Amino acid sequence: MSEQAGTARATIGLTGLAVMGRNLARNIARHGHTIAVHNRTTAKMQDLLDEHGDEGDFVGTESLEEFVQAIEKPRVVLVMVKAGPGTDAVIDDLVPLLDEGDIVVDCGNAHYADTMRRTEQLQEHGLHFVGTGVSGGEEGALNGPSIMVGGTDQAYERLGPILESIAAQVDGEPCCAHVGEGGAGHFVKMVHNGIEYADMQLIAESYDLLRSIGGLEPAEIADVFGRWNEGELESFLIQMTADVLRHTDSGTGQPFVDVVKDAAEQKGTGRWTVQSALDLGVPITGIAEATFARSLSGHGEQRAAARKVFTTDPDEQRVDVDREAFVDDVQAALYASKVVAYAQGFDQIKAGAEEHGWDIDLGQVAKIWRDGCIIRARFLGRITEAYTDEPDLTTLLTTAFFADAVKEGVDAWRHVVATAAQGGVPVPAFGSSLSYFDGLRRERLPASLIQALRDNFGAHTYQRIDREGTFHTAWAGDLSESEA
Ligand code: 6PG
Repeated sequence: MSEQAGTARATIGLTGLAVMGRNLARNIARHGHTIAVHNRTTAKMQDLLDEHGDEGDFVGTESLEEFVQAIEKPRVVLVMVKAGPGTDAVIDDLVPLLDEGDIVVDCGNAHYADTMRRTEQLQEHGLHFVGTGVSGGEEGALNGPSIMVGGTDQAYERLGPILESIAAQVDGEPCCAHVGEGGAGHFVKMVHNGIEYADMQLIAESYDLLRSIGGLEPAEIADVFGRWNEGELESFLIQMTADVLRHTDSGTGQPFVDVVKDAAEQKGTGRWTVQSALDLGVPITGIAEATFARSLSGHGEQRAAARKVFTTDPDEQRVDVDREAFVDDVQAALYASKVVAYAQGFDQIKAGAEEHGWDIDLGQVAKIWRDGCIIRARFLGRITEAYTDEPDLTTLLTTAFFADAVKEGVDAWRHVVATAAQGGVPVPAFGSSLSYFDGLRRERLPASLIQALRDNFGAHTYQRIDREGTFHTAWAGDLSESEA
């Protein structure tokens, strides 16, 4: 049933009816909530009503004034516009029309710092601003996304039940939670996307290794991924990889993956994750390498120049491997590297929460990522268990389940990285994850030498292993040591 606005009878409103907004609105309506819908160009709103008006109770509105008036107070207004200045423009138009206590929910991929700024800005008007991460793409928005909600407890009380009803569900539990105050929702979504970058890079490296060193064809690799999806690696992206690799381009008859240009793009959330990690001092090496690998892939001119100079003699670079054993090794390396990427991502969420005073339950974050989102995976259940058992866990890597998996796979992991280096196949995510693991477990790191060098050229001082205090050596003088 659909009708035009009259009285304030909608329980929620949504403005911005591009694909994501439209699907989210349909999902909300299908779950029995009366929803007011609005779009800058009215035709899109009308299309939604014409095509899907029978899916639930929509209140179509043509102006922002009419839209706001159609929603019950305290109003909940979802904003689904492209992140950036567009969000500010919508907020500026909305604010004068709203009343104290109303709630504006930004469901775009906004930068968490913008969300923090907007939260303060709306607070001055007595309004709640709720930065909300929504993952799952178009399909998820329609059939059940994973939803990471920020903002105040008070706003969540009004908003939460609606969002929980439309989210993906696992064992009767919604993949939606109030992860923390202020910008926490968008921060968690940002790290989700960073992990998404690492996950995809690790998958892409696995494919490259299986094809370039293992000698498998794309359709055979599809079967391998299909098998992997039946075990601990089971996840949305692994299944999708099997589907993509099995696909043949209808125009050329080539494997589809061979007709796609090998330059990966990004909208920026991976870059933000790395920038934030640098500020927080958290080594998220897997995510960073994944982000840089995309960047390298886009440097076509440099790649062409390097290819010309450093020509490859295929015989010199050929590495002979036992195909079946190599497939198993790549599987183990993928799993271990994935554990590292997630461990690093959760470290970053923990550090972000400490920095900004957000009370984020890491086990709950893993829980709401179990379905609906792009990185949904079987092993997220294990991460929830790990943080439930020990909420202040130092690193996920050392919990029994993951430690056993890494111990079991470490030889294969080393073999894969060494073989890749020998064969000239770039594996930045595999390699950096292994180095991170070795860095953590090493008795002594060469950071001692770095400290000595810093003291030598800049009198930056150092600490000793055998005495408390801060010291400096007179490198240019008599080499005596003094306490700084
Ligand atoms: C999701 C996705 C979604 C989107 C990314 C793609 O969780 O639904 O992460 O947010 O697909 O923005 O990001 P890039 O364009 O940066 O790869």
